[in-house]
Amino acid sequence: MMTEHTESADIPQVAANFMDKDHDEALALLARVVRCLEEMPTSKAESGRLRDDLRDFIEHSRAHFRREEALMKAVEFPPFQLHKQEHDARLEALVAYVDDLDAGVMEPADLKPLLVEDFVPWYRRHCATMDKATARFVARKEGGEP
Ligand SMILES: [Fe+2]
Ligand SMILES: [Fe+2]
Repeated sequence: MMTEHTESADIPQVAANFMDKDHDEALALLARVVRCLEEMPTSKAESGRLRDDLRDFIEHSRAHFRREEALMKAVEFPPFQLHKQEHDARLEALVAYVDDLDAGVMEPADLKPLLVEDFVPWYRRHCATMDKATARFVARKEGGEP
Protein backbone atom coordinates (compact mmCIF):
# COMPACT_ATOMS: atom_id res chain seq x y z
CA MET A 1 0.00 0.00 0.00
CA MET A 2 1.11 3.49 -0.82
CA THR A 3 0.67 4.69 2.73
CA GLU A 4 3.53 2.44 3.79
CA HIS A 5 5.73 4.08 1.20
CA THR A 6 4.88 7.58 2.27
CA GLU A 7 5.22 7.45 6.04
CA SER A 8 6.96 10.66 6.96
CA ALA A 9 9.22 8.69 9.29
CA ASP A 10 10.83 7.20 6.19
CA ILE A 11 12.01 10.60 5.06
CA PRO A 12 15.40 11.59 6.41
CA GLN A 13 15.02 14.64 8.58
CA VAL A 14 17.02 17.63 7.45
CA ALA A 15 18.08 20.71 9.33
CA ALA A 16 16.09 23.46 7.62
CA ASN A 17 12.62 23.45 9.17
CA PHE A 18 10.61 24.33 6.10
CA MET A 19 12.16 21.39 4.26
CA ASP A 20 10.87 18.74 6.66
CA LYS A 21 7.43 20.30 6.73
CA ASP A 22 7.32 20.59 2.94
CA HIS A 23 8.49 17.00 2.48
CA ASP A 24 5.76 15.70 4.79
CA GLU A 25 3.14 17.77 2.99
CA ALA A 26 4.38 16.63 -0.42
CA LEU A 27 4.11 12.98 0.52
CA ALA A 28 0.63 13.51 1.93
CA LEU A 29 -0.43 15.12 -1.36
CA LEU A 30 1.21 12.30 -3.31
CA ALA A 31 -0.59 9.71 -1.18
CA ARG A 32 -3.86 11.39 -2.14
CA VAL A 33 -2.97 11.04 -5.81
CA VAL A 34 -2.16 7.36 -5.35
CA ARG A 35 -5.38 6.71 -3.41
CA CYS A 36 -7.24 8.30 -6.26
CA LEU A 37 -5.41 6.06 -8.75
CA GLU A 38 -6.18 2.98 -6.67
CA GLU A 39 -9.85 3.82 -7.03
CA MET A 40 -9.22 3.66 -10.80
CA PRO A 41 -11.06 6.65 -12.15
CA THR A 42 -13.69 5.64 -14.64
CA SER A 43 -16.08 8.55 -14.49
CA LYS A 44 -15.37 12.11 -15.58
CA ALA A 45 -15.81 13.34 -12.02
CA GLU A 46 -13.13 10.96 -10.74
CA SER A 47 -10.63 11.85 -13.43
CA GLY A 48 -11.28 15.49 -12.54
CA ARG A 49 -10.34 14.65 -8.96
CA LEU A 50 -7.20 12.92 -10.15
CA ARG A 51 -6.32 16.00 -12.16
CA ASP A 52 -6.88 18.30 -9.18
CA ASP A 53 -4.86 16.10 -6.81
CA LEU A 54 -2.02 15.82 -9.29
CA ARG A 55 -1.99 19.56 -9.86
CA ASP A 56 -1.91 20.23 -6.12
CA PHE A 57 1.04 17.87 -5.75
CA ILE A 58 2.96 19.34 -8.69
CA GLU A 59 2.38 22.94 -7.63
CA HIS A 60 3.41 22.15 -4.08
CA SER A 61 6.58 20.49 -5.39
CA ARG A 62 7.33 23.44 -7.65
CA ALA A 63 6.99 25.89 -4.76
CA HIS A 64 9.08 23.67 -2.49
CA PHE A 65 11.87 23.29 -5.04
CA ARG A 66 11.94 27.06 -5.59
CA ARG A 67 12.15 27.64 -1.83
CA GLU A 68 15.14 25.34 -1.58
CA GLU A 69 16.77 27.02 -4.56
CA ALA A 70 16.27 30.47 -2.99
CA LEU A 71 17.85 29.15 0.19
CA MET A 72 20.80 27.67 -1.73
CA LYS A 73 21.34 30.98 -3.51
CA ALA A 74 21.19 32.91 -0.26
CA VAL A 75 23.96 30.81 1.26
CA GLU A 76 25.87 30.31 -2.00
CA PHE A 77 25.65 26.52 -1.88
CA PRO A 78 28.35 25.34 -4.31
CA PRO A 79 26.45 22.38 -5.88
CA PHE A 80 23.43 24.63 -6.53
CA GLN A 81 23.17 23.66 -10.21
CA LEU A 82 23.35 19.94 -9.50
CA HIS A 83 20.59 20.16 -6.91
CA LYS A 84 18.41 22.39 -9.10
CA GLN A 85 18.88 20.08 -12.09
CA GLU A 86 17.36 17.21 -10.12
CA HIS A 87 14.37 19.39 -9.22
CA ASP A 88 13.86 20.55 -12.80
CA ALA A 89 14.10 17.06 -14.28
CA ARG A 90 11.53 15.70 -11.84
CA LEU A 91 9.12 18.59 -12.32
CA GLU A 92 9.35 18.13 -16.05
CA ALA A 93 8.58 14.43 -15.70
CA LEU A 94 5.56 15.13 -13.48
CA VAL A 95 4.17 17.70 -15.90
CA ALA A 96 4.74 15.26 -18.77
CA TYR A 97 2.64 12.65 -16.94
CA VAL A 98 -0.28 15.08 -16.87
CA ASP A 99 0.19 15.87 -20.57
CA ASP A 100 0.29 12.16 -21.38
CA LEU A 101 -2.89 11.53 -19.40
CA ASP A 102 -4.54 14.44 -21.23
CA ALA A 103 -3.40 13.15 -24.60
CA GLY A 104 -4.67 9.68 -23.77
CA VAL A 105 -1.27 8.11 -24.37
CA MET A 106 -1.05 7.08 -20.72
CA GLU A 107 -3.72 5.35 -18.66
CA PRO A 108 -4.20 6.31 -15.02
CA ALA A 109 -3.18 2.73 -14.14
CA ASP A 110 0.23 3.35 -15.71
CA LEU A 111 0.85 6.35 -13.49
CA LYS A 112 0.83 4.51 -10.17
CA PRO A 113 4.06 2.53 -10.72
CA LEU A 114 5.78 5.66 -12.00
CA LEU A 115 4.92 7.45 -8.77
CA VAL A 116 5.33 4.59 -6.29
CA GLU A 117 8.31 2.78 -7.80
CA ASP A 118 10.16 5.67 -9.39
CA PHE A 119 9.24 9.02 -7.87
CA VAL A 120 9.04 8.00 -4.21
CA PRO A 121 12.44 6.21 -4.14
CA TRP A 122 13.99 9.18 -5.93
CA TYR A 123 12.37 11.53 -3.42
CA ARG A 124 13.80 9.60 -0.47
CA ARG A 125 17.24 9.56 -2.04
CA HIS A 126 17.04 13.24 -2.89
CA CYS A 127 16.04 14.15 0.69
CA ALA A 128 18.84 12.00 2.10
CA THR A 129 21.52 13.44 -0.16
CA MET A 130 20.91 16.79 -1.86
CA ASP A 131 18.52 18.25 0.69
CA LYS A 132 20.49 16.99 3.65
CA ALA A 133 23.73 18.39 2.23
CA THR A 134 22.01 21.71 1.62
CA ALA A 135 20.59 21.84 5.14
CA ARG A 136 23.95 20.95 6.63
CA PHE A 137 25.63 23.70 4.64
CA VAL A 138 23.02 26.19 5.82
CA ALA A 139 23.45 25.10 9.43
CA ARG A 140 27.22 25.54 9.19
CA LYS A 141 26.79 29.02 7.72
CA GLU A 142 24.30 29.97 10.41
CA GLY A 143 26.68 28.64 13.02
CA GLY A 144 29.28 31.05 11.72
CA GLU A 145 31.74 28.35 10.72
CA PRO A 146 33.65 28.82 7.50
FE1 LIG B 1 15.81 19.43 -3.10
FE1 LIG C 1 13.29 19.00 -0.70
